[in-house]
Amino acid sequence: MDIIQAIKKRYSTKEFDPTRKITKEDFEKVKTLLRLSPSSTNIQPWHFVITSSESGKKRVTKSTESSFPFNTTKILESSHVVIFCSRIDADDDFMKLVLEKEDADGRFADTEFKEMMHKGRSTFVNIHRNDLKDLNHWMQKQVYLNLGSFLLGVSALGLDALPMEGLDMQVLNKEFGLNEQGYTAVCAVALGYHRESDFNASLPKSRLSENDIITIID
Ligand SMILES: Cc1cc2nc3c(=O)[nH]c(=O)nc-3n(C[C@H](O)[C@H](O)[C@H](O)COP(=O)(O)O)c2cc1C
Repeated sequence: MDIIQAIKKRYSTKEFDPTRKITKEDFEKVKTLLRLSPSSTNIQPWHFVITSSESGKKRVTKSTESSFPFNTTKILESSHVVIFCSRIDADDDFMKLVLEKEDADGRFADTEFKEMMHKGRSTFVNIHRNDLKDLNHWMQKQVYLNLGSFLLGVSALGLDALPMEGLDMQVLNKEFGLNEQGYTAVCAVALGYHRESDFNASLPKSRLSENDIITIID
C-alpha cells in the first residue's frame, strides 16, 4: 500500500467487529513492526504484552472499568490488544543485552566500534539520568515513537487500530506484574477490523493546516 494512502486510511477505530480476527500471518507482521521500530541510540526500552483471548482482554479492561469505561467494549471486541510498556531503568544488564545483540547481529567490524557504541549510548542515558533527571520520560518517548510507526504500519497491513491512553496504568502494572519485571505500562493499541456501524470510519480527518504547523526556511 502506498504510504500516503496508509496514513490517510488509518483512523482511530471506535467499534471493532468481534467476529473478525487477525490472521497468523498478519500477527507475525505485527510483531515485526514492534521489533523494528527505531529508537534513540537503538536503546529499545520497551516490552509488549499482547493478548487475543477473551480472558486476556477481560484482564486488560480492569484498567478501564472505573475511569475509562468508554474504552472497555473497544478492547473486548477487538481481535488483539497490545500493551506498550516502557523500561523503568536502563541498568547495566540491559545496556549489555542491547550491545551484545548488536554485536551478534554483525554491527561491529571492530571491537573499537563496539566500545564507541556503548560509550555513546551510555552518554545519552547518563545525561537523562543525572543531568536532565528524566530517564524514565526519555525512555517513554522512545516507546511512543514505536507507537507512531506501529500505527502507520498496521494501517499499511490493512488492519484497523485504536491507540489508547485511557487506561489506568497502575492497574495494568499490577494485573500483569509489570513493575516486578522492570516495566511500566504507558499506552495500548486495540487491533482488528472495524464494524460497518463505526461512526468514526466515515468522518473526515481533521488536522491543522500546513501553514499552522510547518515553517519552510529558504
Ligand atoms: C497516544 C494516543 C492515545 C489515545 N487514547 C485514546 C483513548 O483512550 N480512547 C479513544 O477512543 N481514542 C484515543 N485516541 C484517539 C485520538 O483521539 C485520535 O487519534 C485523534 O482524535 C485523531 O484521530 P484519528 O486517529 O482518527 O486520525 C488516542 C490517540 C493517541 C495517539
